[in-house]
Amino acid sequence: MQRPHPPLYYADYLQLDRLLASQSPKSVEYGKPAHDEMLFIIVHQAYELWFKQILHEMDAVIATFKQDYLEEKAIGIAVHRLSRITEIQKVLIEQLRILETMTPLDFLEFRDLLTPASGFQSLQFRLVENKLGLKPELRKMYDKTAYYSRLSAPHQEIVQEAETEKSLFELIERWLERTPFLEFQGFNFWASYRAAVAQMLENDRRIVQNNATLSAEEKKQQLLELAKTEENFAALFDEEKHRQFLRTGQRRLSYRATHAALLINLYRDEPILHLPFRLLTVLVDIDELLTTWRYRHALMVQRMIGAKIGTGGSSGYPYLRATIESHKVFGDLFNLATFLIPRSALPALPEAFEKNLGFFYNQKP
Ligand code: HEM
Repeated sequence: MQRPHPPLYYADYLQLDRLLASQSPKSVEYGKPAHDEMLFIIVHQAYELWFKQILHEMDAVIATFKQDYLEEKAIGIAVHRLSRITEIQKVLIEQLRILETMTPLDFLEFRDLLTPASGFQSLQFRLVENKLGLKPELRKMYDKTAYYSRLSAPHQEIVQEAETEKSLFELIERWLERTPFLEFQGFNFWASYRAAVAQMLENDRRIVQNNATLSAEEKKQQLLELAKTEENFAALFDEEKHRQFLRTGQRRLSYRATHAALLINLYRDEPILHLPFRLLTVLVDIDELLTTWRYRHALMVQRMIGAKIGTGGSSGYPYLRATIESHKVFGDLFNLATFLIPRSALPALPEAFEKNLGFFYNQKP
């Protein structure tokens, strides 16, 4: 039975007195009110509230993946929460448009009063990055100082602490490595896939060589392209090469986890792999939306301050542009597409194995 509770008042529940008393334009304080500073503050506060919600979802997903045994149901809930993050991210990207109604000249009315504060000091944004799995050594630096050096001492402690905790990237990698299907009931995925790739490349070579409509030069060009594809696959099958890529930062995902991610992508039509496939897809979505936000924010910064340095002291637009590509976390999942082969070329699964990948009630007689 529910316990009786006192009636609640809307403004009390949402603590609106505190929330709505939290906008204090510096231009007003210094006696030269700038109309647009209110918008600037509210947009940033709205961002921070959404960052809080994103962290709330991420923490729950991280806690789920910290478990050694994961039920299918738990993965479903995690996918749902991660999808919620992507919906928030879409709002975060759109929200920049509201701020862009402030012109560069309007911004100049109060910009100097903000130094050295900057979004660069957003604790929650750094936590989102760290919990997602952005490694300190992969971050673009400016001033040759750590990204957290501009944060207050207590905030520095919090982000450094977050660096030491298992990130979503690491936990997903560990989960992938545990996939039981790589060698299952007599089916060796890697050996079968490798044979199918060799067959596919051999067919491609034969098609080019026998194509009578190609000139000698065109044929040479196409065979060169094919050789590049073969090289890509050769690197995929060479564990030592993979290790070397891990050392140089060209890859992040372990060899075994890469195999599992490929298996999930290739056999995603099998019912039992639907959910793992959706999980990998939503992680790519999150990374893509964050990359899109970085790009949109950099463009907004360029139109707002041109080539001026940022209030936080960075080169501004050039620094932000540099982070766009290099701060991706799940780049290896994006690049899996390089190694996909057509469904028609996929090794057939042994029947008994296929039955096990189906749902119980749907098994072939
Ligand atoms: C007039 C609008 C804005 C301008 C001109 C601007 C400018 C800048 C600049 C120049 C930087 C680089 C660091 C620096 O030197 O300060 C930066 C970083 C950043 N800004 Fe903005 N910003 C604006 C709006 C926003 C908004 C609305 C947010 C939302 C929270 C935001 C979040 C961030 C974040 C998180 C960073 C760190 C990015 C990174 O290091 O990868 N900014 N901003």
